[in-house]
Amino acid sequence: MKIAIIGTGYVGLPTGVGLAELGNEVCCVDKIKEKISALNAGELTLYEDGLEELFKKNVKAGRLSFTTSMAKAVIGADVVLLAVGTPPHPETKEADLQYIYAAAKELAQYLDGYTVIATKSTVPVGTGDEIEEIVRKVSPQADFDVISLPEFLREGFAIHDFFHPDRIVVGANSSKACEVMKQLYAPFEGKTEFLWVKRRSSEAIKYASNAFLAMKIHYINEMANFCEKAGADINEVAKGMGTDSRIGNKFLNAGPGYGGSCFPKDTNAMAQMARKYGVRLNLIETTIAKNDERKAEMAERVIAKIKNNPQGKIAVLGLAFKGGTDDCRESPAMDILKELLKHSNNIAVYDPKAMQNAEKLLGNQVMYAKDVYEACDEAEILVILTEWEEFRNLDLHRIRGLMKAHKIVDLRNMLNADAVKKSGFDYSCIGMNS
Ligand code: UGA
Repeated sequence: MKIAIIGTGYVGLPTGVGLAELGNEVCCVDKIKEKISALNAGELTLYEDGLEELFKKNVKAGRLSFTTSMAKAVIGADVVLLAVGTPPHPETKEADLQYIYAAAKELAQYLDGYTVIATKSTVPVGTGDEIEEIVRKVSPQADFDVISLPEFLREGFAIHDFFHPDRIVVGANSSKACEVMKQLYAPFEGKTEFLWVKRRSSEAIKYASNAFLAMKIHYINEMANFCEKAGADINEVAKGMGTDSRIGNKFLNAGPGYGGSCFPKDTNAMAQMARKYGVRLNLIETTIAKNDERKAEMAERVIAKIKNNPQGKIAVLGLAFKGGTDDCRESPAMDILKELLKHSNNIAVYDPKAMQNAEKLLGNQVMYAKDVYEACDEAEILVILTEWEEFRNLDLHRIRGLMKAHKIVDLRNMLNADAVKKSGFDYSCIGMNS
């Protein structure tokens, strides 16, 4: 099939690569000329595990191309996927739909033959109706359907998730559009669950899922606070809870609060959307407020540890909003660093992939170390903020030799508490009386 993808970000690009790998002819379009030039020159514009190999393979095979021309991508396409950003409005926190609407208006000019316009971006319930109206206004004669095709890929695991989805949700009010989707997703037939639902239900499923996962994280973080006081161990408690299949063992890692470009944005948008319908989502509103507070509380824990020597160097490991990505948007690490910077001008940072993106946000306020050990050199305290696998196996003996004082605050519970303490560190982590 011929597919056009509008937007080459963390959703559009991996989806485009995945659909090309399934044998489709995919053309990705983006307004940002530099991005398209880089992609056409064979350079990826973001980091995703496993993306590069499939990207190169499919470009070489002629199944994957990139353009700034909407006409080139959309003319003759069977399916047009909308994967542009829906950032939060700075004041209202509602999803800002200007990019979606602009893309709909533009693509409408080039529809020829029956086309399915599928929204991959996370959009408020009812946006499909709006898109339909916009397209019809621009091209009254066009033969098209607008469907909701929510995306559940996780950053850092996007390629894995593309090929192993838990489910594929199609929100369509037309059986003709469903037939096209059955054809597109035929390789997943019998391998994953398909949900054929109303367009508005599909739009709601995406928000309800992200908000629930955010709430699950908030819940385990509250339990961690409780365990610290009650002398229980959150890792053991999470394991005990997670073995109940009704609860599930995923998303029970206590930490410094959730971040990223999705959960903070989508929980806010969900709460605002519900208020418009006169419904208060109290659990979600509490989750949002408490998650914001948590990051400040985490910074306070670190500051309390260095109050006797505020000039002492702080070594920070991890800047991305989670392991496996270079993305620092709404990263808890960034919020915590901003708090730490109010108390210290002696901070060295290291992240395996996110240094460049972090530098755009932090500028010259911190020292950028080339590795863990340079960051720890002469440091008073070591703080772990992102769950990168390489932080699990630190050479504690070497780090002890490099540091001036021997304090570790592990906000991702990456290290083995007993081993770290045995190595002579003052160690604190989340959810246990360490
Ligand atoms: C999230 C959803 O998991 C995807 O299903 C969805 O497609 C995506 O948003 C989206 O809407 O596009 P993502 O933002 O990539 O994916 O990140 P997650 O892996 O969900 O992690 C989000 C945040 O929660 C991170 O800061 C992470 O460190 C934190 N987290 C996650 C925890 O603190 N504890 C956990 O147990 C799990």
